Amino acid sequence: MTPEQFLELARVLPEPLLLVSGEGQLLATNQPVTDMLGLRRQELREIMLFELVSEPVNDIVKYLQACSSSRAMVIGSLTFRKNDGQTLICRSQGAVIQPWSPESSALILLRLENRNLASSNFVLLNEKIDELGKEVQRRKQAEEALWKANQELEIRVEERTTALQETLNELQLTQTQLIQAEKMSSLGQMVAGIAHEINNPVSFIYGNLHHAHKYTQDLLTLVQIYQQLCPNIPPEIQDKVEEIDLDFLIQDITKLFQSMKVGTERIQEIVKSLRNFSRLDEAEFKQVNIHEGIDSSLMILEHRLQTRHEYPEIKVIKKYSQLPNVTCYPGELNQVFINILANAIDSLEASANNGQRSAINPQTTDNQEFAENNPKIQIKTELIDQNWIEVTIADNGLGINEQVRSKLFDPFFTTKAVGKGTGLGLYISYQIIVEKHNGQLSCFSVPGKGAEFVIKIPINSV
Ligand SMILES: Nc1ncnc2c1ncn2[C@@H]1O[C@H](COP(=O)(O)OP(=O)(O)OP(=O)(O)O)[C@@H](O)[C@H]1O
Ligand SMILES: [Mg+2]
Repeated sequence: MTPEQFLELARVLPEPLLLVSGEGQLLATNQPVTDMLGLRRQELREIMLFELVSEPVNDIVKYLQACSSSRAMVIGSLTFRKNDGQTLICRSQGAVIQPWSPESSALILLRLENRNLASSNFVLLNEKIDELGKEVQRRKQAEEALWKANQELEIRVEERTTALQETLNELQLTQTQLIQAEKMSSLGQMVAGIAHEINNPVSFIYGNLHHAHKYTQDLLTLVQIYQQLCPNIPPEIQDKVEEIDLDFLIQDITKLFQSMKVGTERIQEIVKSLRNFSRLDEAEFKQVNIHEGIDSSLMILEHRLQTRHEYPEIKVIKKYSQLPNVTCYPGELNQVFINILANAIDSLEASANNGQRSAINPQTTDNQEFAENNPKIQIKTELIDQNWIEVTIADNGLGINEQVRSKLFDPFFTTKAVGKGTGLGLYISYQIIVEKHNGQLSCFSVPGKGAEFVIKIPINSV
């Protein structure tokens, strides 16, 4: 390319372009170069490149050599002295457009780029990057804040759920206690009513029995006096004496009155027990004899202990020790005795049912046979030390396996058929013993051999 051809081409290009020889002679420039350096075109003619720049001549020569021997663009930096005395740092991209030959020198095209402009672009770019960086940071922070808020929300939802669950549990507990209290209080009311109704006529009978006996004795004495004073009695009277077997009657009537007396006394005792049991609605704690509570509970269940056509009699073995009176809620303790005794009876009845089944398909174990034939409940009381008493209620029924035992005191846990058990008996008993009396309630069992419930309560728990 000749300098003329170059000028022709460079005229239309907006970037500053220089055409130099391999030795550094300026051959041509375009308008943007003169504008950039503030020189006229003539001032740039016939001068060497290093006359325009402040870099050492050697450096310039080396740069141009590198440009003429490389096929790629060679990047350099040139510091121009402007017309107004200021310096202008340019980045230059040099490329050979005509290699050196023996006939002519190499021609190198230099494309200049104002570094100041570039760096201001760079500054703009940097600012943009910076802004973008900040935006990214802001978004990250917003995302983090959102994540935190979400986390807090989740924690609050969890807390709220836990609080709701607790309220639900409390409500269920209150509900179960109400159900049980209602059940027991209506039983108590019924028992109290019956006891009252029976008590009046029984007192009436018992009170008159003594007079009836005395009057009968008086009449018999009168008959005897008659017999002594009038030995020749008319035949009608003699016939009647024989008919009624007077001698036997005289002997038997005393026994009769005696057994009537024992019978009414027994009824009176039953009434006393029923009244004792019906203290259920007494909310206050009292000093009571624990044995009376157990006995009145047994009295309530008496009908289930006797022989019934499908079940043999259940023997109750009492091993009572000398116990001090215990300060407690007597009605509620009776409720515990009733629950545990009723469970024992249920288990013994189930064992008897098993026996009937195994009679058809005889595969009974020794122990089961023993329980079927000798169903029994043993109640033992003991003074453990000066502060504690223990009541043990054991049966030789079906027993409790480990799986059932672990859920025994859970509300609504039952293995009984629908309508037979609500699964509240032991749950309520546990609440009464442990929470109301600061006592302990535990269960021991060898499956197939029976179960034992141990109640420990402080003598002065409340
Ligand atoms: N003496 C026992 N022998 C064998 N299993 C027992 C005995 N006592 C309790 N259980 C088992 O424990 C379960 C729970 O007893 P709990 O008294 O709480 O409820 P339930 O008797 O089923 O019903 P509810 O007493 O409310 O009428 C019973 O269903 C039974 O499986
Ligand atoms: Mg029960």
